[in-house]
Order: sequence, then structure tokens, then C-alpha cells
Amino acid sequence: MCGIVGYVGNNQACEIILDGLKKLEYRGYDSAGIAVQGKKGIVLKKKKGEIKDGLEKLLGSNMITGTCGIGHTRWATHGVPSDVNSHPHKDYYDELAIVHNGIVENYAELKANLSSKYGIKFKSQTDTEVIVNLISLEYRKNGRDLEKAVMKVAKDLKGAFSIAVIAKDVPQKIVAYRKNAPLIVGAGSKFNLLASDIPALLKYTNDIYLIENDEMVVITPDEVRIVNSKGKRVARDTMKVTWSMEDAEKGGYDHFMLKEIYEQPNAVKETLMRRLDAKGKVNLDGISITKADLKKYDKVCIVACGTAYHAGLVGKYAIERIAKIPVEIDVASEFRYRDPFVDDHTLFIAISQSGETTDTLEALREAKRKGARILSVVNVVGSSVARESDDVFYTWAGPEIAVASTKAYTTQLVCMYLIALYLADKKGVISAAKYNNLVKELKAIPKKMEEVLKTAKDIEKLAKLLYNRTQMFFIGRGLDSAVAYEGSLKLKEISYINSFAIAAGELKHGTIALMEPETIVIALATQDALYDKMFSNIEEIKARYSHIVAITKEWHKDIKKKSNEVIYIPKCDDDVTPILSVVPLQLFAYYVAKENGENIDKPRNLAKSVTVE
Ligand code: M6R
Repeated sequence: MCGIVGYVGNNQACEIILDGLKKLEYRGYDSAGIAVQGKKGIVLKKKKGEIKDGLEKLLGSNMITGTCGIGHTRWATHGVPSDVNSHPHKDYYDELAIVHNGIVENYAELKANLSSKYGIKFKSQTDTEVIVNLISLEYRKNGRDLEKAVMKVAKDLKGAFSIAVIAKDVPQKIVAYRKNAPLIVGAGSKFNLLASDIPALLKYTNDIYLIENDEMVVITPDEVRIVNSKGKRVARDTMKVTWSMEDAEKGGYDHFMLKEIYEQPNAVKETLMRRLDAKGKVNLDGISITKADLKKYDKVCIVACGTAYHAGLVGKYAIERIAKIPVEIDVASEFRYRDPFVDDHTLFIAISQSGETTDTLEALREAKRKGARILSVVNVVGSSVARESDDVFYTWAGPEIAVASTKAYTTQLVCMYLIALYLADKKGVISAAKYNNLVKELKAIPKKMEEVLKTAKDIEKLAKLLYNRTQMFFIGRGLDSAVAYEGSLKLKEISYINSFAIAAGELKHGTIALMEPETIVIALATQDALYDKMFSNIEEIKARYSHIVAITKEWHKDIKKKSNEVIYIPKCDDDVTPILSVVPLQLFAYYVAKENGENIDKPRNLAKSVTVE
């Protein structure tokens, strides 16, 4: 949560930082601020609210003058969203300014000590103001050496954080430190930048330094110096980012979410292209699981959060059905607290768009401690999950900016199928015919997705009909039930409608009590093998006069008699339907939220990257 940006160079910093913060608003958007080194000290402006309503209006046409500064966009943890709790924060002596992403767990005791022993008075309720005052004390004690002060204090802090600090009397220098929260540096000519994520830097550079945990980085216009926790300088090469600036812009769409929904055919194509060779075989270049390793793994363990977890549910079906390996799946926040049976016979798969989700990262570390082999499915290159895994399977979806995940999900699904095919082949449990057919089915998805996207107008009409309902259910069997969970999450997170997903066969064990004439039920019936069973479930609901929207394949015409509306998806193999059937659900959630006038890309209380437990 929270995004940080820093710039030092020959140009005016404020505008560049503001621009970078706008690209990071998906990380938090309850307040924002900027601090710049000026002639008479550090000038700081910050304001509650989204950037366009708060900070941008506060600045107006009076950008702060200066060529070195830091900025922040906040997702509140310590202290309510308010002007005073917004970052940057200054120290008591008005000499330093800091921005911070993360949480300091021992801040209360540190704060009490600062007050009682040094008489420091605090303006805000944040843990961040504690950090800057600790640094300030060290700085004043040790001859105003900002680097030493940051290094010393970082070691005393418990928790996860990335910080960036500037000092009134240390011109043209930003000192930053990373511990379990993302931090990257963009390298330029006569300037350098730092940020929590790539989109903030793309306009200025594609050359990125990845900062590791427990490293300090010092940037000036001409230098990027990385230092480890022992104070030793670290040599590191830059990495070239292939995303373009346009990838991180709306490109004419009303919202990032809609743009990203429409990017799915290409994203899926890209994911497939990277992993299928000319003969249609899955190539896992750079992934070192051998046949011998596979013999060793007696189970797969999938762990993820939210949408990525829903991709894992499909992964479980795919790996068990195609590769015949038992799969356990957990939400990451539960995994490490249940003392799971994981050892060196386990292949552990972590799925994460951002690669920075703390719950997923901690689960991964727990599995690693227990000896599991870690394979991660990640979108952001060089992210923490990617770096801490034995092998990485990138999704290649490009930057996903909207908080509601769409193209990351469908590309995660593609990865799960490719992994299942790879494992099946290595284990020798799949016939050539079945293997080739599945590859053919996957290759056909992008075109079929485009067909589904052509039905957007019909789905918008449906949304206009149902947008004002207060409750909706999503049901399905088999793979459809996994997609139902994702459809329901999409709707609730951006439209705030109380939606609920359940395996269709489970309805009769309690939840059917909620079915009334006003109830909306989105029924996924795309699995040919389970169609008759699903048809019966739909009949049971119809008998309670509820409103049914069915999603099925082209040839199931009889469902019309039992449903109020039917959305058809193109012909495809049962196994791969989730990649198509989720698209109408994404569009439905989008149009319902739009009809209700909600803030689609930045839904309330949420942030794209959840770096707290
Ligand atoms: O970056 P991650 O994939 O690890 O994020 C996990 C979830 O926080 C994320 O999928 C969340 O559920 C989405 N906002 C849902 O659209």
C-alpha cells in the first residue's frame, strides 16, 4: 500500500513527482503530498483526497520550486486519512522530510521513548513521523550524515517498509531504504528517480535498478549507490523494462479496468507465445524442474489471495485433471498459520499479479522454510515474490493499473494450464492427442475472447436493467464454481453490491433459503459434462421465482426457457472455459459500477498492492 516517488536532477522535481504519483494512485488514494528542497528549506504540500481533488488543486499552477524532492500517495494504516496524517512528514526540527510505504510494528514504543526522553511533540498519528524523528536524532548526533542516520534507524525498525528521506542541508540527494516493501530506482542521464513501482518511471526511463531487502540506496543527479546492511557498496546492473508508457495510460478508454478487459486477447496471446514453441510444446525455459524432481513431488500446494486465489482454484482443477497430481489450495493469509504439511516433496505455487502481496510472500517464505520447491506465477518482473522463488513463470499481462484485476487473472489461468500440461507431459500421464488438443484450444482463446468482447453492448444493457439491486448470487459447478467466485468478487469490489458465490450443488444445503422473486442469480453452465446437473439447480431456483442470468455455450438453447437472460460463450473444450466465461462477468461488474457512478479504478477501502498483513 502507498506509493512513493523521488526525483533528483536538473529539472523541476515537483511536476515529475506529481506525474509519478498519479501513476501510483492504484496503490492508495486517500491523500497525497510532495516535499521539495527549496532555497530556504524543505517546502511541503499535502492534502487529503485523491490527487486530482486534493494535492493537484492545492498546488494549482504554483508547483514547488526545486530539483530534488519526494512524494507519496497514501492508503491509511496508522491514523485516519487527513491532511495532517498525509505524507511527507517532517521531523520536529524541520530539517528532514520522509515518505514511507509499509508499517513499523514497534512504532508505539519508539514514539513513547522519543516523547519522554527527547521531548519530541508529534503532529500526526502515523508511524512515519516516528521514523523521521528517529533519523533526525541520529543525524544531529553524528555530524549530519544522513546516510549513516538512515542506516542506523532502519536497523532498529521492525516491520515492512520502504522510506525515502531528504534533508534541508544535504542538497541534491535522496537516501532511501528498503525492507520488505517495494523500491526501485530509474536511471537517467543527469537525473535519477525512485519509486514503488515501474509505471511511475516509464515516462523518463526504462533502465531500472531493483533494490533488495535491507539495502540502502542513495541517489544524486549523477549517481545511484546501493549499500547493503553492512555498509558495503553493492554492484548491480540495471534491468531493461519492456513496458511502454502507453501501456500505463488509459489510451482513450474511460477507465483502466475497461482498457485492461479489452487488452485480454493480446495479453493471453503474449503469455502463450512466450511459452509455446513452434511445435506447440510448452517450453519452460529458465524453469529447472526435471523429470527426477517431478518424481519427488507428491503434491502441489497453491497459495494466493483474492483474484489470484481464484486463478489458483482453476489451477487445482487443471493440475489434478490434466497432470494427475493432488493439489491443495489455500488463501495465503491462512496458509502459514495452519502449520501445513509441506516438505521437500511439495511443489509450492504462489500466484500474484504484483508479486508484493505480503500474505503471499510470507506464505512462500514459510513453504521455503519447510523445504518446498517454489514456483511462482507473477506479473511484475523483479518483484519480491519473483525474486524469492526458485522458478518464475511470468504472466506477461503488461501493467495492470485498475484495482480490480482482469487481464492478470486470465493470463494467470493460461499459466496454470501451461504448467498442468508441462507437468502432465513430464510425468507421461497425457496422450499426445489430448496434449495437442488442449494446446489448440488455448491458442484459439484470443480470437474467441474477441467474440465475447463484441457482446459488451448486450452486457451493458443487462447491467442497466439490474444495476440497482442490492444482492446477487453467482453459482456454478466444477470449473464454473471457480469462475463464480471471481465474478462475485469483481462485482462487489467495484459496485459495492452484496454478492455471494457458491457451488450450485451446495445451494440446497442452506443458501436457497435466500431465494426470492427479487433475487438475481448469475448461473454459469458452461461445463458440458455437468450441464444436466446445473440445469436442475437452475430449475430449483426458478421455482422460487428468482431472476436468472445464465452463461452457457452456444448449443444449450433449452436453458432459455428457465432463464430471464442468457449470455452465450463460443464453443470450446470444457477444460478451458474459465478463460472465456469470466469475460462477461468482468464486463457486467464494470457496467453495473459505471451505472451506479462508482469510482471504478479506485474502489473505496482498497488498494492494488496489499503490502500489510
Ligand atoms: O497482486 P496480487 O495478485 O498478489 O493481489 C492479490 C489480491 O489482492 C488481488 O487479486 C485482489 O483480490 C484484486 N483487487 C481483485 O480484483
